[in-house]
Amino acid sequence: AEALRIGIAGLGTVGASVARVLAQKSAELARQCGREIVVSAVSARDATRDRGVDLSAAQWFSDPLDLAKNADIDVFVELIGGEEGPARESVMAALQAGRHVVTANKALLARHGVELAQAAEDKGILLNYEAAVAGGIPVIKTMREAMAGNTVNRIFGILNGTCNYILTRMEAEGLSFEDCLKDAQRLGYAEADPTFDIEGNDTAHKLSILTSLAFGTRIAADDIYLEGISNITQADIRAAGELGYRIKLLGVAVRTENGIEQRVHPTMVPTSSVIAQVHGVTNAVAIETDILGELLLSGPGAGGNATASAVIGDIADIAKSQPGFQHGPVFGRPVKELHPYQKAR
Ligand code: NDP
Ligand code: HSE
Repeated sequence: AEALRIGIAGLGTVGASVARVLAQKSAELARQCGREIVVSAVSARDATRDRGVDLSAAQWFSDPLDLAKNADIDVFVELIGGEEGPARESVMAALQAGRHVVTANKALLARHGVELAQAAEDKGILLNYEAAVAGGIPVIKTMREAMAGNTVNRIFGILNGTCNYILTRMEAEGLSFEDCLKDAQRLGYAEADPTFDIEGNDTAHKLSILTSLAFGTRIAADDIYLEGISNITQADIRAAGELGYRIKLLGVAVRTENGIEQRVHPTMVPTSSVIAQVHGVTNAVAIETDILGELLLSGPGAGGNATASAVIGDIADIAKSQPGFQHGPVFGRPVKELHPYQKAR
């Protein structure tokens, strides 16, 4: 089969890791996918920065929109970030040009996911976003593909690696909030603007995507009750510990008689509970359904390689799909069948 040509827009923590792993594992991936995956084009702001991988064979675009529209590629991989600007414009342009899209950008999907899904479905192409929720944990595939026939009643979890890393180290090592956040930034876990992590917005973005998949509703990120961890002190953590609890930032979506309730806030969880044992950058997603019962997925929630694992899985899925293959809808059912989101009163 012909090689799959990809264009990577964004060569930061995630984009550079994706490029490095694709280079290191090219033979293995070609065997798994039945065709080679070739990085044909790349884009970032600084053309001179060493990304730790030889990208000299790839065409350089200083403008990701130009890459999306004009590069000779089959798949546009968006790893820039941000809900508007170059990320939104280039993803929409790529979809309109009939190129498959892979993105890790939960902020973009939380704001414009339905519109982008509609564009992908209109063209009969793929918009894959496994890395957008819970980093390396394959929760999107699990929900979209492996849980057909399940009615979800509740979904909740630790969806932000930065916050869990901060809370874990504050408790275990007595460090200050600020020092832990700095380390999370240095390790590449935090968003470009870490306010999104610590004020809960990133968790809300991810929760809104899970809610759409779980309940078949249109994404409604603005309807989420939101409280972050920036006010949590050592005294709060110690007081919770003395009562037998640990503080975790949770995202929760529940089906109620009146609609779907979504919320993000610090939560006291019993120290003996499974969710309390999720430490550091690890994320966990619990899904409760009628026929399966309770499922708990946990694994690395942020960082270059863990996120690259999910991005490359999405690229490999496209490489494996044959011409004429009918793709499933982006949010598990066609956009026109998504229900309006009814907020629980
Ligand atoms: P970084 O900030 O490390 O990288 C962003 C990249 O985009 C950089 O290469 C930057 O160029 C490039 N870029 C930014 N603005 C422009 C622009 N206007 N034109 C061209 N290129 C631009 O981000 P991350 O890699 O951490 O995150 C990327 C995406 O992945 C985000 O959507 C994030 O939310 C998501 N994500 C991140 C995870 C993580 O653990 N870091 C985990 C899961 C998802 P340059 O390098 O030249 O400055
Ligand atoms: N900033 C995010 C986090 C990256 O810390 O979880 C992964 O989505």
